Amino acid sequence: MKKPVLLFLLAVTSTAWSAAPRDLAEAYAAEASRQAPGFKASPQRGAEFYAKRFAVSDKMPACSACHTDSPARPGQHAVTGKAIKPLAPRAEAARFSDPAKVEKWFRRNCTEVLGRECSAAEKADFVSFVAEGL
Ligand code: HEC
Repeated sequence: MKKPVLLFLLAVTSTAWSAAPRDLAEAYAAEASRQAPGFKASPQRGAEFYAKRFAVSDKMPACSACHTDSPARPGQHAVTGKAIKPLAPRAEAARFSDPAKVEKWFRRNCTEVLGRECSAAEKADFVSFVAEGL
């Protein structure tokens, strides 16, 4: 993720201190549509991305390897066994409310699972899927 996007996210949310997951998804979608005009976030694509096995890492093949088949369920770290709270904001209210934290974990987890950072489009789809039903 490039710095300007994070700064943009922080600027968008600085008045409220915390960002609603929808605002975050919209900010990622806006970034993605600069690269692909007409882009719209898709919860369906986000769901496929969430479950997809990237085969880059044996221990961390997919997001679901630690976050389980459902983002609304508590997860467990595939390597350390540490408990992970649910990713879905409907199950864990603090999720996707802190852009800096979200960016940190996208960077870390995408690099481990995909072998690269996630694109703005992938993040927009992912957040719109995980925040579904909110
Ligand atoms: C190796 C285990 C593991 C895998 C695989 C994994 N994550 Fe995570 N993820 C974590 C941990 C640990 C945290 C931070 C602990 C916490 O906040 O409960 C986290 C937190 C996050 C957060 C922060 C959400 C918030 O607002 O608090 C995002 C976003 C995220 N992960 C996205 C992903 C994506 C996208 C993938 C797949 C590309 C993925 N994760 C795969 C372990 C994992």
